[in-house]
Amino acid sequence: MISAASRPYIDASVPVLREHGPAITTTFYANMFKAHPELVNLFNMGNQANGVQQQSLASALFAYAANIDNAAALGPVVSRIVHKHVSVGLTRAHYPIVGFHLLGAIKSTLGDAAVDPLMKAWEEAYGSLAKVFIDAETQMYLDAGIEAGYLRAMRVTEVVRESENVLSIRFVPQDGEPLAPFRAGQYVSVEAIFDDGFRQLRQYSLSDAHGLDSMRISVKREDGNNNVPAGAVSNWLHRNVEVGDILQVSYPTGDFLPDTESDEPVVLLSAGVGITPMIGALNRIALVNPGRRVIFAHAARCAEHHPHQADIAAAKARMPRLEVVSFHEQDAGPDVLPGFMDLARLPSWPRTETNVYMCGPLPFMQAQWNALLDAGAPAERLHREVFGPDLLDNLL
Ligand SMILES: Cc1cc2nc3c(=O)[nH]c(=O)nc-3n(C[C@H](O)[C@H](O)[C@H](O)COP(=O)(O)OP(=O)(O)OC[C@H]3O[C@@H](n4cnc5c(N)ncnc54)[C@H](O)[C@@H]3O)c2cc1C
Ligand code: HEM
Repeated sequence: MISAASRPYIDASVPVLREHGPAITTTFYANMFKAHPELVNLFNMGNQANGVQQQSLASALFAYAANIDNAAALGPVVSRIVHKHVSVGLTRAHYPIVGFHLLGAIKSTLGDAAVDPLMKAWEEAYGSLAKVFIDAETQMYLDAGIEAGYLRAMRVTEVVRESENVLSIRFVPQDGEPLAPFRAGQYVSVEAIFDDGFRQLRQYSLSDAHGLDSMRISVKREDGNNNVPAGAVSNWLHRNVEVGDILQVSYPTGDFLPDTESDEPVVLLSAGVGITPMIGALNRIALVNPGRRVIFAHAARCAEHHPHQADIAAAKARMPRLEVVSFHEQDAGPDVLPGFMDLARLPSWPRTETNVYMCGPLPFMQAQWNALLDAGAPAERLHREVFGPDLLDNLL
């Protein structure tokens, strides 16, 4: 992976680069967007604005370098990034652009400390990681039979308000041909083009079963306040989308794949809009294996912010062994537990043999993850989906 000559330079500089991570990332993105303004249409500029971006690309490179001998730790990280890259349509031609500006930002941040052998070592590290991504992404495009950047025209067939701020949008291919194959838990990128011509993509989990003749996403409207602007794409979708409209949608990707097909008991935990992939999984299980034991627990602010109640009621009617537990922070009504989700208040299940899938805000997932580990669940039984750049907290 990395030559013996380069290795000591990488080892010595990882902690320094991590310390300067935000400075490097800021310089990197600023220089890259100045030289290639067309890339703002590819990147999520919301993540740039709200400050999550310093946890993504450059951090991943440093995490990779720090874990270069630890393929087991890197595998899932690479897989997640590859799926995300394919969903936004990366090509091999993008890599030298990022490499040039990332190495330039490392050099300018380190100043005199950026001696030639050190820069050569990072060039090698970047090149080796870029190759891993390019090979995997090329293979995914080939397997899917699509060109990078492919988007499909989808006709909206239904728009349903699920809660105070979540809207479900169902669509079918405009050309009348079958849907691309996907699995519950995966997501699509949806394109928004604003009035000023600015283009953005956002990912939305597929919130209904696979195997139907339509796809559905469920979008939370990200409201603004005095300190932060309203979310660009979610508000655009809430404001504009009507039945009959055409949306441009990517090939489905994503490696968060709840086990919907076996007979094993399964636990689905969610909070907020993190419910969407769980509803996709629940609806699939209701379709193919309604006798299965499923624990479905969701935490919401209150009843008005608890989406997909119709899906849950329909699943309950079909699934005799479905156990639904709801937590509401405020105004918990009958059949609802007050407060945050708490493992101690869920039905019990065989910890070591049961897969648990979770999705929601990071603090929610960290709390459930830690509680489950403490309760004896092995890490390999725990699976999570993050609605944003992953923090890579297991690597950094
Ligand atoms: C794999 C995956 C699956 C997802 N699935 C779903 C799903 O099923 N449903 C769903 O609703 N979402 C989902 N998301 C999230 C979704 O992709 C978007 O991130 C979300 O809709 C917000 O996009 P936006 O354009 O509305 O907000 P953006 O404009 O991107 O803004 C994001 C946040 O940053 C804040 N912000 C913007 N500008 C600034 C600034 N200058 N300073 C400070 N803060 C700022 C905004 O207020 C907002 O809260 C998923 C994400 C991923 C990665
Ligand atoms: C070795 C090089 C690269 C690394 C280590 C890397 C790393 C990452 C990481 C960690 C994420 C977030 C994944 C998540 O959701 O958790 C990401 C997403 C993304 N990457 Fe890369 N990446 C690399 C190359 C590139 C290149 C060459 C481009 C294009 C010029 C690119 C464009 C994007 C885009 C558009 C996203 C989606 C999120 C967003 O829009 O900000 N990346 N990448």
